[in-house]
Amino acid sequence: MDTLKSILTTITGGDNNDSSSTSSNEQIRHQLCKIDDIQNGQMKEFEIKTSLVNASVLLVKQDNKFYAYSSKCCHYKLPLAKGVLINNRIRCFAHGACYRVDTGDIEDHPGHGSLPKYNVEIVDDHVIVVGTKEELEKVERTKIPDNLEIDEKPVVAILGAGAAGFTCADMLRQNGFRGRILLFTREGTLPYDRVQLSKQPLKKPQELLLRDQPYFKKAKIDLILDTEVTNISWSTKNLTYHTLGKQMKSEQYDYLVLATGLRPRKLPPSIPGGDLRNVFYLRSMEDANNLVNKVKSPETKNIVIIGDSFIALELCGWLTTGLAGPNGKQEDADKKNVSVVMLLKAPMIRTKKLFYICKREIYYYTLGIFGEKIARAVQKVHEKNGAKFYAEANITELTGENKIIKFVQLETGESIPCDLAIVAIGSESCTELYKDSPIEMSEDHFIKVNDRLETSVEHVLAVGDISKYPLRVFNLDEVNCQHWQMACSTGHQAADTILHHYLGQTKGGSRPLKTDFYTVPIYWTTQNNKTTIRYAGYTRDPENVVIHGDLDGEFKFVAYYIVDGYVRAVAQSKYDPLSSEVAEVFHHRRNIRKEDIENDMYGYRKYLDFKTKKPE
Ligand SMILES: Cc1cc2nc3c(=O)[nH]c(=O)nc-3n(C[C@H](O)[C@H](O)[C@H](O)COP(=O)(O)OP(=O)(O)OC[C@H]3O[C@@H](n4cnc5c(N)ncnc54)[C@H](O)[C@@H]3O)c2cc1C
Ligand code: FES
Repeated sequence: MDTLKSILTTITGGDNNDSSSTSSNEQIRHQLCKIDDIQNGQMKEFEIKTSLVNASVLLVKQDNKFYAYSSKCCHYKLPLAKGVLINNRIRCFAHGACYRVDTGDIEDHPGHGSLPKYNVEIVDDHVIVVGTKEELEKVERTKIPDNLEIDEKPVVAILGAGAAGFTCADMLRQNGFRGRILLFTREGTLPYDRVQLSKQPLKKPQELLLRDQPYFKKAKIDLILDTEVTNISWSTKNLTYHTLGKQMKSEQYDYLVLATGLRPRKLPPSIPGGDLRNVFYLRSMEDANNLVNKVKSPETKNIVIIGDSFIALELCGWLTTGLAGPNGKQEDADKKNVSVVMLLKAPMIRTKKLFYICKREIYYYTLGIFGEKIARAVQKVHEKNGAKFYAEANITELTGENKIIKFVQLETGESIPCDLAIVAIGSESCTELYKDSPIEMSEDHFIKVNDRLETSVEHVLAVGDISKYPLRVFNLDEVNCQHWQMACSTGHQAADTILHHYLGQTKGGSRPLKTDFYTVPIYWTTQNNKTTIRYAGYTRDPENVVIHGDLDGEFKFVAYYIVDGYVRAVAQSKYDPLSSEVAEVFHHRRNIRKEDIENDMYGYRKYLDFKTKKPE
C-alpha cells in the first residue's frame, strides 16, 4: 500500500492528463474517479490518453464493488456505457449483446468476444484501474488457450458456417470442448457478417469477417470451405461431402448440428424471364459482389427491386443514398432510377401467415414485423430519397433483348424499364438434405427442436434460420425468428447442450451451462444511414400497436406491440436504449401492461426497478 500511495502522489489527475504511472513490472495504474462519483447500478466510460497508454475503460459499480472492462461492445465496438445495466448484466443499447458484470463474459449475441477485464484497486477513496499497456488497450477477449491441444474424439460436425453454425463452433471451443470440430460451408469465404450485405454491400470482404484465418488455426476448428454436405446416414452417424474440384469424402460424427440456413426464394416459373441476365438475388457475399459490380456499371441506370422484404428495402436505401462517385463523395454518385414492385399495398405488412396464390403458384409468406403505419412511413423515407413504389402490383413477365433484362411487365400493362432486377421476395429453408429422414419437420419446412435445440434424432441439433424452437420468455412453442441474434443465440445454446453432455454441469468454473434455450429476440434494420429501427420481443400481430412519436417527419418513434393486453414487442427509432431496456424487462419475465405505456412511453421503467413488486 505504501508503494502504491507513493506512486499515486505522483498522479496529477484529470482524464486526459498524464495521470498514469507504471511500476517495475510495467503495470499501469490510472486513477479514474472517487468511489462516490458513481452509484451502485451505474457505469461510466473513461478515456485514458497518456504518454503510457491510450485506452477506454468502462467502470461499473455493482453491490459496492467496482469492475473495469474495455468500454466497447465486441459487436460493432459501440460504447457499452449507453446500454443497460441490471442484475449482473450489461446489455448493449444497439443490437442487444449481453455481458456478465462479474466476469465480462458474453452471455448473448451478436458479437463473439468477451470483455477484457482489468484489476481495480481502491486507494483511500480513489478508484484505480490497473493493467499493462497491452491489457488496457485490448478491446476483446476470447477464451482460446495458446497451444490448444485437442483429441480425435468426440467429433462435432456442423453443417453451415453462417451465424448459427459459426457461433456453435466458437462457443464450443471457447467454453472447453476439446474434441474435433468440423465446420462445413458451401461458401468460399470465412464466416462473415451477412447482415451488412444489404446495408453496406461495398464493404471489403475482409471487413466483414467474424474471425480471421489465424483464429480458426488457433482454435483448431476445421473450417471446410467450398464444400457441400450431400448425404447423411443417420443410423451410422456418417456424412458425405464434396469439396469443389475434389473427390467425395466422408466423416464419422458423434454430434451433428444442422445450421444450413435459408436461400432466396426464386421467381416462380410462371413468370417468364426469370433466367434473363442481370436478374440478381442476395444471400451470400458472392451474390453481393456480383450485384455491386453490376450496380457500379455506368450502363446500369434503371434498377427494379422485386419484393418488399427487409432486404429489398435496405437495398433500396443503399441504392438511393449509399452510392458514391469515383472520388468517394456521395453527391458525385452516378444516380440510379430505383423502383420497388410490391404485391400488397405497403411494404413489409404481411400480418398473418398466408398462402399467396399467383398464377397458380403457391407461396408461403412469413410475418410482417412492424405493422402498416411504420411500413408506410418507411416507404415515405425511401420515396423522399427518390425511389418509386408500385403497390399491389402483379408482375406478369420480365422481358429482355439478347437475353438481357430490359423491362419488368405488370398486370396493369405498365412496363418498367430495367437494366438490373433484384429479386427479394423472401426465403426458403435449405432442408432438402433432411427430406425422407427421421428428422421431424414443420409443415412449412423448418426443423422442430426442443428447449435444448435437439431434433427428433438423438445427438442431432438444429439452429438458426432453419429451426423452430420454444420461446420460453413468452411461453411460446415452435417459433422461427430469422434474426442474426437468434441465429447466434441458438448456436450458443447448441454448444452449451453439447458441452453439458460431455463436461457435465459447469463451464470453466465460471457459471453453470444453460440447459434450456432462453433469450429475447432482437432484430434491427438499417434502411439508410439515417434510418435504423431496433426491435425486441415477438408478436404475430403487429397491427395491435401503440405508437408514440413522429413517424412522418423525423422518423423518431416508439411502437409497443400488444398481445392480450400486454406488451410483447417494441420497435423504436432514435430512442436508444429504449428497446434494450424493454428487452431486459422481457428477459426478467415482468409483464408490461398496455395501460403502463399508453400515455407514458417510458411507463415500462418501473419494471426495471427490481424493488417494485412483480405485477401479476
Ligand atoms: C442480406 C441480408 C440482410 C440481413 N439483415 C439482417 C438484419 O439487419 N438484422 C437481423 O437480425 N437479421 C438480418 N438478416 C438475417 C440474418 O442474417 C440471418 O437470420 C442469419 O444469417 C441466419 O444465420 P444461419 O446461420 O441460420 O444461416 P446462414 O447465415 O444462411 O448460414 C447457412 C450456411 O449454411 C451453408 N449450407 C447450406 N447447406 C449446406 C450444405 N448442404 N453443406 C454445406 N453448407 C451448407 C450455407 O452456404 C450458409 O453458409 C439478414 C439476412 C440477409 C441475407
Ligand atoms: S454494437 Fe453492441 S450489440 Fe451491436
